[in-house]
Amino acid sequence: MKLRTVYTCQQCGYESPRWMGKCPQCESWNSFVENVQEAPSKSRGKRSSPSSPPPAASTLKDVKHIEADRLKSGLSEFDRVMGGGIVHGSVTLLAGDPGIGKSTLLLTILGKIGGFYVSAEESAEQVKLRAQRTGISGDNITILPTTSVDHILAALDTWRNENGNGIVIIDSIQTIATDELEGMPGSVGQIRRSGELLTQYAKRMGIPLMIVGHVTKQGTIAGPKVLEHMVDTVLYLEGERFINARILRTLKNRFGAVEEVGIFEMRDKGLIQIDNPSDLFLGERKQNVPGSIITALMEGTRPILVEIQALVVPSQLAIPRRVASGVDINRLQLLIAVLQKHARLPLGGSDIFVNVSGGLKVSEPAADLAIALAIASSFHNKGIGEGTVAFGEVGLLGEVRRISGQDRRVKEAKRLGYANIITTETAGTIGESLKELKK
Ligand code: TYD
Ligand code: MG
Repeated sequence: MKLRTVYTCQQCGYESPRWMGKCPQCESWNSFVENVQEAPSKSRGKRSSPSSPPPAASTLKDVKHIEADRLKSGLSEFDRVMGGGIVHGSVTLLAGDPGIGKSTLLLTILGKIGGFYVSAEESAEQVKLRAQRTGISGDNITILPTTSVDHILAALDTWRNENGNGIVIIDSIQTIATDELEGMPGSVGQIRRSGELLTQYAKRMGIPLMIVGHVTKQGTIAGPKVLEHMVDTVLYLEGERFINARILRTLKNRFGAVEEVGIFEMRDKGLIQIDNPSDLFLGERKQNVPGSIITALMEGTRPILVEIQALVVPSQLAIPRRVASGVDINRLQLLIAVLQKHARLPLGGSDIFVNVSGGLKVSEPAADLAIALAIASSFHNKGIGEGTVAFGEVGLLGEVRRISGQDRRVKEAKRLGYANIITTETAGTIGESLKELKK
């Protein structure tokens, strides 16, 4: 076999025959590592080999309609994110920070529908401990602790011959490697080739395959970026390490919508799905406290009530501090400016801290009004009133705008007993919305 050396960007997979300091594709620095690859002439020759007949073209109308046959995972929150269940022969990448609960989630699903678990990071005993902790007996789970793709493929053949069925899990793609290449596990070359081999196998055999991928500190799916194009579905499990809420999002799905999310809670005894997310994010909250207000966010197609907290204190610094957690800092600066100009709140000498409870990240402008009200409420040291929910986008002129999904948000607020709803209908401007506080 003819080999050649290529330099591959570990962030995006860009290839170059020479080392480069900066990647021309994703602009990251010092991301190139050396990889050995099969010379392209050989693989190209294979692909265009005349022995395989070219596929025949046909009209779309005559193409057979196949209803995707979906496997139910037994976790409705997971099935919702997948677009209604797991499609046979589909390949899913589950990405997330280390320690966020990827292995736990997949083991939970495996406990329900059974299958084959490749543990490349942990020993079989460690997986057993996790299974016991989450109450999974493991009768229907075959486990193989290995880091070799070649061993995995051989073991899968045996497993299938012995009538094994269910899903196959690879935990994780960064720790496995194929003998075909010399690069270390986790290098882009290895990830791409291992991913290719496993994906081809799953498609050929019609097995649903789930691949775990870790995410780097910068928040990108390290290396597995190259996998994103290969797989059918990309899921992202997110949350804060010391906060229990976990949100499962779809970034790509060839078999369903991408705006759905699944909500889970990490408990002592495993990852539990949450049917009523507002309860999780509101918790045991006291109402009518200065600096606190409830808003309604949309997570996927579902409204969720969350608490926004603000703290406004006199600053000792020449340039006062503005600290946002879960909220974009630029958005916060903008809202403070709007409050100063259009509600005449003298905030220039105050340190301002804003936080979203439950570790949620707010990116919707729908939370603007609640953030502004929480700041004003802390500034006046006055609660906003019992049973109040606020949402709406705040414009630069101080106007409160209507937002998408407004009716659904109102319905969820009423369902949970919040009767005083502040939106553009009840307060057209930021000034009007603050009337309660000034009484
Ligand atoms: P894990 O699934 O190993 O994370 P990942 O595979 O994404 O790296 O989860 C690890 C964390 O979850 C660990 O800090 C312990 C915690 N945990 C629980 O709180 N409850 C449980 O039942 C389990 C299995 C783990
Ligand atoms: Mg893990």
